[in-house]
Amino acid sequence: MSDLIKDINFVGDDVDKKAVSCDMKITEDTAKEGQRKLYIESYGCQMNFSDSEIVASVMQENNFGTTKDVEEADLVFLNTCSIREKAELTVRKRLTVFNKIKKRKPGMIIGVLGCMAERLKTQLLEEEKMVDIVAGPDSYRDLPKLVGEVDEGDKGVNVFLSRDETYADIAPVRLNSNGITALISIMRGCDNMCSFCVVPYTRGRERSRDPHSIVKEAQELFDQGYKEVTLLGQNVDSYKWSDEENNKARLEKKEKSDKVEEVVNFANLLEMVAKVSPELRIRFSTSHPKDITDDVLYTIKKYENICKFIHLPVQSGNSRILDLMNRTYDREWYINRIDKIREILGDECGVSSDMISGFCSETEEEHQDTLSLMEYVEFDFSYMFFYSERPGTLAEKKLEDDIPEVVKRRRLQEIVDLQRKHAAKRNALNIGQTQKVLIEGVSKRSEEHFQGRNSQNKVIVFPKGDAKIGTYANVKVHDCTTGTLLGTIV
Ligand code: SAH
Ligand code: SF4
Ligand code: F3S
Repeated sequence: MSDLIKDINFVGDDVDKKAVSCDMKITEDTAKEGQRKLYIESYGCQMNFSDSEIVASVMQENNFGTTKDVEEADLVFLNTCSIREKAELTVRKRLTVFNKIKKRKPGMIIGVLGCMAERLKTQLLEEEKMVDIVAGPDSYRDLPKLVGEVDEGDKGVNVFLSRDETYADIAPVRLNSNGITALISIMRGCDNMCSFCVVPYTRGRERSRDPHSIVKEAQELFDQGYKEVTLLGQNVDSYKWSDEENNKARLEKKEKSDKVEEVVNFANLLEMVAKVSPELRIRFSTSHPKDITDDVLYTIKKYENICKFIHLPVQSGNSRILDLMNRTYDREWYINRIDKIREILGDECGVSSDMISGFCSETEEEHQDTLSLMEYVEFDFSYMFFYSERPGTLAEKKLEDDIPEVVKRRRLQEIVDLQRKHAAKRNALNIGQTQKVLIEGVSKRSEEHFQGRNSQNKVIVFPKGDAKIGTYANVKVHDCTTGTLLGTIV
């Protein structure tokens, strides 16, 4: 689950084949005798997947175990995404399926959580009559109470956005876990106000989690046998924690204050987590081009276990469009960041991006600037979308969504085609190299093969040999497809 957005139709939202499947499902039945059963589906980004693990934990404390089978469930939660119209339509379709089940099992409680709950609030209860609970991303501690209200015959609603909730003290129940890789939320919300984006409205103000609780979680995961953690935030580079409480306490006790950093930034945090163990890999997402510092790049370089892979969404290669998007950097700034990455970390550092085609007033020449920026960078990977106007955003209020859908789609296709070319080229560079791979499981295509990822987040498939899942192997790459490297253990 390494991808930031696993929206079903991420390549352009235009392939409707798997429209009603979810992005993260529960892999284990944990409900014990006498417990009520909870079924959760999660859509959208990894933040949502991580939140569902918090939700499962909160509910577990209140005598709910999980089930893989929605038909068995007493309580169904849909953790939703609002990022594009398509994401919301997917959830609506899924709700109709659950409503059918509920007709057969009237006692089943249905709750909508996450970004769509936050965006639509009580409107959702009116539109989706069979929904019992609407809970925004900062209200998950309140879920048992909301379920209690439904048990009493009411509806349960909490869409309050908090300035300080980080769920730092809640130990997540790993729902979609292979026992090897795990997600750790390091911050919540976003203050950036990109004009196209609904996230600041659905997730509220940015706040960072106590670094000590993050390190503790990473240490606990490592002790349980996990080998990789992904640190999550909408903009990890603006992570900032000041230890005011502790510092005040130390000053009062007249203790020396040199033990704990007064302010922890993302570079400091990366270092703290990297030190948990050289055997624990660290990934992180998402980096913001305006905030990623050279310090962060040097920290990545310093620790072998920090993966050499940066998801650095550019959105557009044209400075006028970037300005309209309120991204607060321009084309030159982005290129400078890429140059710095290559200078400090070398060409082996993987870089991926997100792209939006057909943003308000984008001309053909401006679209060409996106293609030429792609030619300059040669991204290993990109998530590519056409612009979808979101209610309440700055772009919806101030700009006209004036690019016809056929044009948006055609431009998107050009972006997708070019990205394919670059991915193939970047993958081919790995042929002949020996790479350190964390073995994550048996290959989806063949029982005789394992699959894992290298530092640059590329999937490598190779014959099992004597290797074991959850260990590292050195694999020599001898071939590749557009998405996968093929190799043998050396
Ligand atoms: N915080 C991350 C992005 C999170 S949303 C960042 O700033 O990079 C993930 C991606 O969805 C965005 O990078 C953008 O490419 C896409 N996206 C967001 N809003 C969109 C919209 N209204 N239409 C199309 N794509 C959108
Ligand atoms: Fe949205 Fe911009 Fe925040 Fe990313 S940085 S979540 S695109 S507002
Ligand atoms: Fe994530 Fe979608 Fe919300 S991308 S933050 S779940 S709008």
